[in-house]
Amino acid sequence: MSSPKNNTVKEDVILDQTLRPQKWEEYIGQELIKKNLKISIAAAQERNEPIDHVLFYGPAGLGKTTLAHIIAKELNAQMKVTSGPAIERVGDLASILTNLSPGDVLFVDEAHRLNKMIEEILYPAMESRSLDIIIGKGPSARSIQLELPPFTLIAATTRIALLSSPLRSRFAGGIFRLDFYSQEEIKKIILRSAKILGAEIKEDAANEIAQRSRFTPRIANNLLKRCRDYAQLYNKSVIDVQITKKTLELLEIDEIGLVSHDRQLLEILIDKFGGGPAGLQTLAAATTEEAETIEDVYEPYLIRVGFMERTPRGRVATRHAYNHLKKFDARKKNNPEEDAQKHLL
Ligand SMILES: Nc1ncnc2c1ncn2[C@@H]1O[C@H](COP(=O)(O)OP(=O)(O)O)[C@@H](O)[C@H]1O
Ligand SMILES: [Mg+2]
Repeated sequence: MSSPKNNTVKEDVILDQTLRPQKWEEYIGQELIKKNLKISIAAAQERNEPIDHVLFYGPAGLGKTTLAHIIAKELNAQMKVTSGPAIERVGDLASILTNLSPGDVLFVDEAHRLNKMIEEILYPAMESRSLDIIIGKGPSARSIQLELPPFTLIAATTRIALLSSPLRSRFAGGIFRLDFYSQEEIKKIILRSAKILGAEIKEDAANEIAQRSRFTPRIANNLLKRCRDYAQLYNKSVIDVQITKKTLELLEIDEIGLVSHDRQLLEILIDKFGGGPAGLQTLAAATTEEAETIEDVYEPYLIRVGFMERTPRGRVATRHAYNHLKKFDARKKNNPEEDAQKHLL
């Protein structure tokens, strides 16, 4: 029997799929990326060839996986899905590649977690559609070369810097960076999702969620679902701004979308390190978070809203962070209180 928690997780996964855009018109924002991809797809179809390999990067929840699905659909191609950590051995990759049919799309998520050995087999596979593998060990080992069907590799990563440059250079179809969405775009996504969920939502309530969703579609959808739950529980037929405010308060999400982890990170940076600069590892140790989580989950948004800066000497909390957390910034130049104190000394 599954626990209630499991049920919620399952429901979320199903809803995530229901809410996932299936075609270009439903995919809101990222206009330049869409334009480029549409051109590549149209041109490749005219030539009756698969499109060149593409790479998407950017913070989680911005629509990388969704783009891969749409591309496969537009190409009428079958999509095989795998991920960096799932391909452990050369044999795993060989079996995936040799099982591809002509025109297939192979989606590799978390591409930064592919190990070096696998990467090296990928280069020729991507470039010349040949797979070089060594069979057997010792003196009887021999190398064989297999020809692969034409296919498109679509890779996604949150950490482009960890991809080796030879791998990056093989994405002839383009390397696309997904950026945070505008509040207006997120609002559109929320209104679309509400329609699919059959939930009625007021315009200002959608705005309120958009403002606190870290400009990230996945988060916006999740917050919408929580607001819908709250409305349902209190027998409200429409999600209005009171309901969104109450829900977000319960979730401890503040008016610009910061959660307790973000605030804690900034507080430690301010209180323990005088606002920085503090190195990533130092911050990770002080907050007992993984450095990777700080870098992938918290930082991109904190930098986006101008609360944190990444300098060569480490992370620095900005004046806006001090103001938001109502902290006194002793680093301020021309600080009247400080000046007054100096005067007294
Ligand atoms: N441009 C978009 N328009 C509408 N909904 C989107 C868009 N991008 C993402 N979403 C929604 O956000 C969810 C997360 O997107 P996903 O592609 O899984 O992100 P990523 O792979 O970058 O982590 C999707 O299920 C989808 O419902
Ligand atoms: Mg994804």
